[in-house]
Amino acid sequence: MTATIYKPDTKGYLDFVLSNSTPGDAESVLAAMDRYAETNALMHIGDKKGEYMDDLIRKHNTNVMMNPEFASVAQKVIDHAGLSSKVTIIVGEFKVSSNEFLSTYGVKKVDLVFIDHWMEVYVQDLKIIEEAQWLRPGSIVVADNVLFPGAPEYQAYIEKNSAKFSSRLIKIQTPHPMKPKETILDGLLVAELKV
Ligand SMILES: C[S@@+](CC[C@H](N)C(=O)[O-])C[C@H]1O[C@@H](n2cnc3c(N)ncnc32)[C@H](O)[C@@H]1O
Repeated sequence: MTATIYKPDTKGYLDFVLSNSTPGDAESVLAAMDRYAETNALMHIGDKKGEYMDDLIRKHNTNVMMNPEFASVAQKVIDHAGLSSKVTIIVGEFKVSSNEFLSTYGVKKVDLVFIDHWMEVYVQDLKIIEEAQWLRPGSIVVADNVLFPGAPEYQAYIEKNSAKFSSRLIKIQTPHPMKPKETILDGLLVAELKV
């Protein structure tokens, strides 16, 4: 999956989700997103990985998103679902926009980081998080797409740092994001900062 070949129909997606869900009912919005993804290419977590993430996510979610068009669509869906007080989207490349994240939002530490952007920068961005000391013992970093398309450098980095992180790979059979009729075996790599 690369930035150049993925050209989603953002208008079609937004129209479908807004007209097939109830304003303020986040469950119905999620169901509409999953229904859309059953027949259309869509970069999304999918219901199987989503179930796993549900168990991990806490009260508030902050999302850094580089593509302003995707960020705008996501913001409209979040508003429609009635979740704007729980989700903040920061638009910009992570290595830039993460710089003043803690001070801007008055956050001391972060409990959960979900890494799901371009695999080539997973290691670079985790190093930024480590250097900026976002994590406390028990904080977890979950990386998506570790088996498909694959993030071998990131896996190797976590293994090399096993004194610092305990980790487990959750293997999940999930719909192919670009070919909804096919499934693929993917993995979420969960790394927890040790005490
Ligand atoms: C796989 S999608 C994320 C999908 C989202 N997590 C979801 O499940 O709906 C990857 C997104 O990461 C964004 N992205 C890529 N590199 C980035 C970076 N360095 N900083 C922030 N966002 C980035 C891309 O614009 C793309 O929209």
